[in-house]
Amino acid sequence: MDHIIIALSENVEAGDSLFREVNLIHSSLPEMSLSEIDVSTEFLRKKLKAPLMITGITGGHPVAGELNRSMAKVAEEFGIAIGVGSQRAALERSDLVWTYKVVREEAKSVPVIANIGAQQLSERPKEIAERAVEMLEADALAIHLNPAQEVFQKEGDTDLRGLIRKISTVIESLDVPVIVKETGSGMSIETVKALWNAGVRIVDVSGAGGTNWLKVEVLRRKKKGESLNIPGLEDMVSWGIPTAISIIEARSVSDEIFIIASGGVRSGLDVARAIAIGANMAGFALPALRAVSASEESLRKLITGYIDLLRKVMFLIGARTLEDLKKAPVVFGPTISSWMFQRGIPLPRNVEKKS
Ligand SMILES: Cc1cc2nc3c(=O)[nH]c(=O)nc-3n(C[C@H](O)[C@H](O)[C@H](O)COP(=O)(O)O)c2cc1C
Repeated sequence: MDHIIIALSENVEAGDSLFREVNLIHSSLPEMSLSEIDVSTEFLRKKLKAPLMITGITGGHPVAGELNRSMAKVAEEFGIAIGVGSQRAALERSDLVWTYKVVREEAKSVPVIANIGAQQLSERPKEIAERAVEMLEADALAIHLNPAQEVFQKEGDTDLRGLIRKISTVIESLDVPVIVKETGSGMSIETVKALWNAGVRIVDVSGAGGTNWLKVEVLRRKKKGESLNIPGLEDMVSWGIPTAISIIEARSVSDEIFIIASGGVRSGLDVARAIAIGANMAGFALPALRAVSASEESLRKLITGYIDLLRKVMFLIGARTLEDLKKAPVVFGPTISSWMFQRGIPLPRNVEKKS
């Protein structure tokens, strides 16, 4: 609840997603009708009406249970995927199971994603993962990584040895796919390569530019009356890999890996940009939480807004389907171009084609 209250009442966003440096090219002759645009896709063997997901946010408290109920209801209506927050609380206390389970009860046909922290996999990774999935009859398990949060959290776990091995064990034992997700600091080529080699085939890069957990933890400690005099703390809130860059880094590792882009995805334009540079779909957390805390209707308006703008942008670049969008030409701004050059990442195929 600390996290929910802070996320709702403070400015918890930081950094820059760098989506503003992804330029899609306007077409004066799209040669199609707006009504023909098709944004449907497939995820975890289920059809989605739009390439969107409400990523893991909450659970473990009666208020969180009600928020989950409303978000799941709306996700089902819109035919988009939904995740729950870390299920740690319910794995420890059975009276809290309903606050997560309610998501599957409301979202019967769309992909529902279970969630656990990599550190919580402890000595019995297989059992913990299976229980988290069973609780929701989930279509996949998201294992989240949050080193930037742990290292600034007072009670944080800073011994992160052996996580890759635990993730591999879970992949081998579970009969649903594993998604490994960051929580707002982004994934690098090196991280995605290590995950790919461990057998991970779906990642949520959750890059910098949206909710910033370092900021949340610092605010939380200040609220508890601690004075934090760490030189350089202000600069650290921009730590992390911008979401746009993280998508490009992840895509450079493999053409096959399924990439969910979250972290500062704030409009249908950002969704279009994310897909044009390599993501398969996009996710958002903070906007959904803020909207649903006002009303279910606000969340409906938010999602309608994302989908409408995605369709309009696709129309304006002449992309009828998401497959066309993936092939659309893009021009990068100076920070992304320089980053790619220095990291030895070739320009994406759609840019090469044009040059
Ligand atoms: C209040 C709040 C709680 C979150 N809790 C979790 C969590 O339990 N597990 C997780 O994997 N991600 C969690 N996240 C991270 C989001 O799923 C997402 O990756 C991240 O916030 C970036 O997206 P955004 O900028 O749209 O918020 C949480 C985000 C928020 C705002």
